[in-house]
Amino acid sequence: FGERVLAGLKVVVSAGPTYEDIDPVRFIGNRSSGKMGFAVADAAAQAGAQVTLVAGPVSLATPQGVSKRIDVRSAAQMHAAVTEAAAGAHIYIGAAAVGDYRPNEVAPHKLKKQNGQDLSLQLAQNPDILASLAAQQGHPFLVGFAAETQNVESYARDKLQRKGLDMIAANQVGDGLGFETADNAITLYWADGSAQLPRADKAVLARQLVDHVASRYRVQRG
Ligand code: PMT
Repeated sequence: FGERVLAGLKVVVSAGPTYEDIDPVRFIGNRSSGKMGFAVADAAAQAGAQVTLVAGPVSLATPQGVSKRIDVRSAAQMHAAVTEAAAGAHIYIGAAAVGDYRPNEVAPHKLKKQNGQDLSLQLAQNPDILASLAAQQGHPFLVGFAAETQNVESYARDKLQRKGLDMIAANQVGDGLGFETADNAITLYWADGSAQLPRADKAVLARQLVDHVASRYRVQRG
């Protein structure tokens, strides 16, 4: 970074998956590795921000320059940690793949196989972290991610509006991009514009994303 475009700003980044426990040995999770969110946290720190990184269960080292890392497991824990960290923050970037549902009940003991019988799990909806931040007075500038396998632009623009976001980073997953991979390709959308960040290493994309976030932040918040 030639310029420290986020100097003086507090930025919260979420990264990785959430795990929703079924019993003491099983959970519902997803394939997020945390790479994208950790790259964003790294880039924001290099751009001069004071960064809090809220990480789901991943096996990644904390990027140098990140002021604080909070490790969580479930969506409920991520919701609580992000809400606390976002109070007084200027920007929240939600790169985490938050589980939309959790088992209604967590079994206290390992579930036993019932031979010959199907098993049904009742799932309850998790709170939406971004939407709940958007509903608060004086909330940070909100950047969401959208991982889609089809209709990327229309689904991303719908999330931008529905969740009350300032910007959304849409990635088409599959074909060596998105979850788990080293590379990604992103299109950024905001109310009256968009920007294409072509396929590149997540570290490169994270720096470009941070530049765009900084300039949109200046336009909207001065
Ligand atoms: O971690 P990697 O392996 O590097 O992969 C990166 C990634 C593909 C996970 C990442 O780039 C990405 O796209 N993250 C968002 C994944 C996703 O599926 O998001 P979503 O469409 O479920 O949610 C949209 C937005 O709402 C996201 O910013 C998400 O953090 C947020 N959300 C979702 C559910 C929920 N309960 N609360 C939320 O805040």
